[in-house]
Order: sequence, then C-alpha cells, then structure tokens
Amino acid sequence: MLARLAANRLAGIRQSFRQTSRCLSTALNYHIDTPDNNSDLPWEFSETNKKKVAEILSHYPSNYKQSAVIPLLDLAQQQHGGWLPISAMNAVAKVVEVAPVRVYEVATFYSMFNRAKVGKYHLLVCGTTPCMIRGSREIEEALLKHLGVKRNEVTKDGLFSVGEMECMGCCVNAPMITVADYSNGSEGYAYNYYEDVTPKRVLEIVEMLRRGEKPPHGTQNPGRIRCGPEGGNTTLLSDPKPPPCRDLDAC
Ligand code: FES
Repeated sequence: MLARLAANRLAGIRQSFRQTSRCLSTALNYHIDTPDNNSDLPWEFSETNKKKVAEILSHYPSNYKQSAVIPLLDLAQQQHGGWLPISAMNAVAKVVEVAPVRVYEVATFYSMFNRAKVGKYHLLVCGTTPCMIRGSREIEEALLKHLGVKRNEVTKDGLFSVGEMECMGCCVNAPMITVADYSNGSEGYAYNYYEDVTPKRVLEIVEMLRRGEKPPHGTQNPGRIRCGPEGGNTTLLSDPKPPPCRDLDAC
C-alpha cells in the first residue's frame, strides 16, 4: 500500500516537473536589454506600412485607438523579420497613444508574438489536446532533434526555429504545424498550415524548404481532400431533400 502511494506521488512529481519544464521552455516573458534589442535603438514603420497603419486605425473610433494594438504588433513583426524588439513595441504604443507597458502586456500574452529572433522559417507545432493526442509531441521532438536546436532557438544558418502554438483551428486534420516565413517583409509574408503531419513528413517538409522548394500546404494525407473524411464522404452522398413546403393558399 505504502509502496503504491509512493509510486503515485512520484508520478505526480514527475508530471508537475514535466509541466514546469514545458512552461519554462517557452520564450522568456521578461525583457533583458541586449545590443540588438534595447529601447535606444530607433524603430519606425516603413513608409509603405505607415499607410497600412492609417488603414488599420481607420477601423476603430479615434478614442479607442488601443483596440488596434494586435494588428499593429502583427504588422510590426512582419516588417521586422518575424520578431518584436522592444523599440517596435514602443513605436506601437506611440501610435495607439498608450503607455508602453500596455503593449508589452499584449505582446507577452499572445504566443504568436515573438520577442526574440526567429529563423527564416519559424515552425510552430500545435500543442493543444487534439494535436497532442494525435502525436504533436513526437513531431516536435523529431524537428528539434533533426535541426539540433532547443525550442525557440534558431539554427546556426538562421534558416529554422521551432516554437509551439496553441490550437490553430485545424483540429480536424490534427496534428498540424504552421510554417511562418517572415523573410519577405509584410508584403511577402507567408503563414502556411501543414496538416495530418507525421514525424517523417515534417522532416521532408523541412528539407524541401531548405532546398528552396515550396512543399504543398494543407493536408499531407493523400487519402483526404482538404478537411473531408479519409477515404471519401460517408454522409451527404446525394443532393439533400428540399424541406416540405406548406400550401399556404390552402390555409
Ligand atoms: S488542437 Fe491543433 S489545431 Fe486545434
């Protein structure tokens, strides 16, 4: 009995350690000044993006400019090669006329904002339950091992980094990864989903990207069309019957 209690306790400790190490392995939630990331470095939206900023702001009442903080951070991140230095966040705070800390709060809360450099291709593995039970842990492990990096580290050639995202709304084709390509600024920015992936398939995708190829995105399962069931439809096999119409004149 005592041995079983001790074993259960040990399993609980191991589980909480695993959870803690997962939390700690995500990008830092605080800022440390570095030569390439400090508030003395100038940062502003490009001339093209200034027009986009005006367009984004036009969606909100002038006394609710702060509502534009997420699309503006997104635009700043696209302009800055996929990550947000502190001076870019400060520039956004200036545009929406709030204290910088209000922008930091948003950027540190949402995992789609990167506050450290990422690779040309930032590979985001979905870690939420449907993808997890369909093998996302094995997919992340395969990517990290193949690229020789830890989560959120960039490969030496600057080509790849691996991060984790929560549900990206594609659970029907779980597990899935997203490949964010920030190398062409906000004009050529790409954010492609690769669905129904396996550890083998994600490595093939990585190698195709390395060779400059464009792996077809969407489902990687040849037996499935988009989000349809594998092997073809099992319901709605014929035109649906129209609803019965009442003869209104007879009423
Ligand atoms: S759980 Fe992965 S896309 Fe929803």
